[in-house]
Amino acid sequence: MRVLSGIQPTGNLHLGNYLGAIRNWVRMQDEMEPGSQCFFFLADMHSITIHEGREQRIRNVRDMAAALVAAGIDPDRSVLFNQARVPAHAELCWLLNGTARIGWLNRMTQFKDKAGKDREGASVGLFVYPVLQAADILVYNATHVPVGEDQKQHLELARDIATKFNTDFGVELFTLPDPIIPKESARIMSLRDGTAKMSKSDPSDMSRINLTDDDDAIMQKVRKAKTDPEPLPETAEGLAGRPEAGNLVGIYATLSNQTADAVCAAFAGQGFGAFKPALGELLVETLRPIRERFMALRTDDAALDAILEKGAAKASAAAEPTLRAAYDAMGLMR
Ligand code: TYM
Repeated sequence: MRVLSGIQPTGNLHLGNYLGAIRNWVRMQDEMEPGSQCFFFLADMHSITIHEGREQRIRNVRDMAAALVAAGIDPDRSVLFNQARVPAHAELCWLLNGTARIGWLNRMTQFKDKAGKDREGASVGLFVYPVLQAADILVYNATHVPVGEDQKQHLELARDIATKFNTDFGVELFTLPDPIIPKESARIMSLRDGTAKMSKSDPSDMSRINLTDDDDAIMQKVRKAKTDPEPLPETAEGLAGRPEAGNLVGIYATLSNQTADAVCAAFAGQGFGAFKPALGELLVETLRPIRERFMALRTDDAALDAILEKGAAKASAAAEPTLRAAYDAMGLMR
């Protein structure tokens, strides 16, 4: 089993990233069997699709590394690195650009969302972004990719690219990766709008809970979260058509390792005025230790860089045989 996943180092780690992906990364790392490996990386090469100054980008990579370690990624057990330090990703991306089809990329909903109305003005990098993501996964022959639901389509594309490459060149080179998507927290929604996903790019900071938010900020964001005037229902079925209420119950259920039904049963008939403080407390308890570790780790840039450099050396060694075989299959002499 080879586990791999990545996160863009832009802005802060938020609750959606944590519950949708990172918690699963830590779980898979902790339950790893002998002979299995976990690769986790900061997708800084992907982040070129967002314009940022040099200093900010450097800070973001170190901060996201600190956040992942604070959340439980252990660089001695998992290979933790940033993509720019492992050129194999970009090299394989270029080779796969010969395999990926424009029609496939045109169907990517994330590109459509991010490009918005001005498609002609979007960067080429944004368009081929999913090919680099396929290269990230295929260069390690990853078998399991823990992600939130929004990445499902990119994973399907990676499988399509792998299949076409293997067929076109008559090789059994790339492994088809399986997405690992959590049941209860695959899609954490904005606190301001239960139909939009919680995201780093939402202009309203009240829409998300960041890893850096202090206890008061967390309590305040939960208190101000949008809800409806109805009380909590007896079962999760009663949350149908109530996206904000469903989201808050889902977050509570995930944090307390219960089903949404069990949470509804515990709070049935109570209003959100009673539920929100309980949810806030649970969030504060979960996030405070992570935040405290993060704040301490982010003060030592040299230590963070050393972790990433060491991880990159291991990652490069793991990627090299597949990359070499891909060049060879295509008749490209190095
Ligand atoms: P990114 O940086 O947008 O998000 C990192 C992880 O967090 C998950 N996530 C969410 N899950 C539930 N609810 C939400 N509101 C929410 N918001 C984000 C994402 O699904 C993701 O798992 N393209 C990727 C990074 C990437 C990658 C890869 C992932 C690059 N190469 C290879 C896996 C394998 C991205 O932008 O994730």
